[in-house]
Amino acid sequence: MADATPRQLPLEIAPDTFLVRAVQFSLGSALSTNHNSLVIRAAEPVVVDTGMVTNRDTWFDDVFSLVEPDDVRWIYLTHDDDDHAGNLNEALERCPNATVVISWAAAGRMCAAFGIPRERIHAVDDGETLDVGDRALRAVRPPVYDSAYTRGVFDPTTRVLHAADAFCAPMPAEPVDHVDQIPVEMWEPGFAMFHHFSLCPWVAMVDETRFRAEVGKLAALDAEVIVAAHTPVISGPSIERAFGLLAALPSTIPPPLAPGGGVLVAGHSVERPAGEGS
Ligand SMILES: [Fe+2]
Ligand SMILES: [Fe+2]
Repeated sequence: MADATPRQLPLEIAPDTFLVRAVQFSLGSALSTNHNSLVIRAAEPVVVDTGMVTNRDTWFDDVFSLVEPDDVRWIYLTHDDDDHAGNLNEALERCPNATVVISWAAAGRMCAAFGIPRERIHAVDDGETLDVGDRALRAVRPPVYDSAYTRGVFDPTTRVLHAADAFCAPMPAEPVDHVDQIPVEMWEPGFAMFHHFSLCPWVAMVDETRFRAEVGKLAALDAEVIVAAHTPVISGPSIERAFGLLAALPSTIPPPLAPGGGVLVAGHSVERPAGEGS
């Protein structure tokens, strides 16, 4: 299935910082969705997330076109969902000097579920930093997530924020690099749809004032470029729009259900296959 989807090559989004992309058709092929990783060529190189099993060969080709396997020092896992940690064990085999970075609460499960030796796991929690030689990356818990273990990562030298699953939104079937290339009549309902139906249906139950405060904490990082697993790049004026969409989620009404259980996005009735998630 992966071979039938469009190919997006790695994209340099800041100095020595590359988005490694996979694309999957969504909702009956009417839309497509990114499954992104990140490579930061810091003094101690960092790979953020390890792709999907279905994209294994291409993912390793892309990552190792940017950094030598022996040079990878850190594999920063935003969380251990299978669309983020799909190639983790193989990455640890092929990158013998790499240590997995994950939140403290996930570390024990990581050992049990993936069989990773405890000495190859380093825990970093919300607000803590990871020294990668020439910079200190900051772990941040985004306000929306589908795993309590989720930690995004902020690079203060490039002001790139990887927000894990937050800001998820579908693209047109022909994938794009930047959210500005998504028609606004698709981005806004698609953003609501992915968050409400997939990532965080609980957001409709939260206290809006407290939620907005959490969104404000993320915005206060003053990121210049936002990337995440399931969105094209967000930068420039789109950052303010994206935070507006995020802050409004508790009271946003997602697209109406279409006949047959699908959803309506940008006027199109599209199927909603079982099993899709963030
Ligand atoms: Fe995800
Ligand atoms: Fe997830």
